[in-house]
Amino acid sequence: MTTAIAGLTTTKAPFIEQAVERGELFIEQPYDLYSNENQETWRQLYARILPRWEKYAHPKFMEGVQNLALDPHNVPRLEDINKFLSPLSGFTAKAVSGYVPAYLFFDCIRQRAFPTTITIREGQKLDYLPEPDVFHDVAGHVPMHTDRVFADVLVRFGEVARAAAERCRDIADEHERVRIVESNIKAMARFFWFTVEFGLMNTAAGLRVYGSGLLSSYGELAHALDAPEVQRFPFQMEWVVNQYFEIDHYQPLLFVVDSFEHLYAQVDELEKWMHAGKLNNVSPGEPLVDEKDLESFLHAKLDG
Ligand SMILES: [Fe+2]
Repeated sequence: MTTAIAGLTTTKAPFIEQAVERGELFIEQPYDLYSNENQETWRQLYARILPRWEKYAHPKFMEGVQNLALDPHNVPRLEDINKFLSPLSGFTAKAVSGYVPAYLFFDCIRQRAFPTTITIREGQKLDYLPEPDVFHDVAGHVPMHTDRVFADVLVRFGEVARAAAERCRDIADEHERVRIVESNIKAMARFFWFTVEFGLMNTAAGLRVYGSGLLSSYGELAHALDAPEVQRFPFQMEWVVNQYFEIDHYQPLLFVVDSFEHLYAQVDELEKWMHAGKLNNVSPGEPLVDEKDLESFLHAKLDG
């Protein structure tokens, strides 16, 4: 029996729990379930961060916010977002019920579909949320997907993940195969983290943020560029793939790229490193690769 707790609040939405129980990963956005409190949370998050976007965000991100006609007052409907988004880069935002295992996630972006969380954080917890929500995914990620080169970076990244799954499949010894897949996932997760989630870019106006983890965090967005103790270094592949990260505090170390073309070239380089076997022994430590992520790569469907 379901008690009707209204709303689509993260970890408290029966609609989501039921979808997960039924094994449904890709779902519809049940828009009418957003409560007044949910809408108020969106309004507050948006109003609070807007001046910081104007100050710290990469100009392409701001262009994206404009091009998507992102609504400051209401949680966006994904179908509305997609009407603007898909003609620009071929990308769509696709609603999901929760965590998407690593291979599936990367394979979705390869096909220009971005797995998008539809729940929203609690009104009393505007600042800290361990898991993604609709504000992180739609206000933090999706505006970047309006840029063609950035969109191509994501697709290219998905291709590297697929090539990694293919390459690992041929390793005969099972123990060795699992070990190598784990190391490759770790390397790709670190690359993704230090670019798509927490990346900085040099621009004519100075250092700007293009990483979505920062762009959806009111506090960390300013901290990333203003705090003197944050280490900001030019992107270096040999460092990034071996650098552990922790998700529960502000990042002490960030990497800077010169352009979206530069970032694209780094993904090409990542693929070369993968084929050369250089991702097979990256340094241990965070992020831990969980069973579902591992399984998703070991049993990846490669015929699609
Ligand atoms: Fe994210």
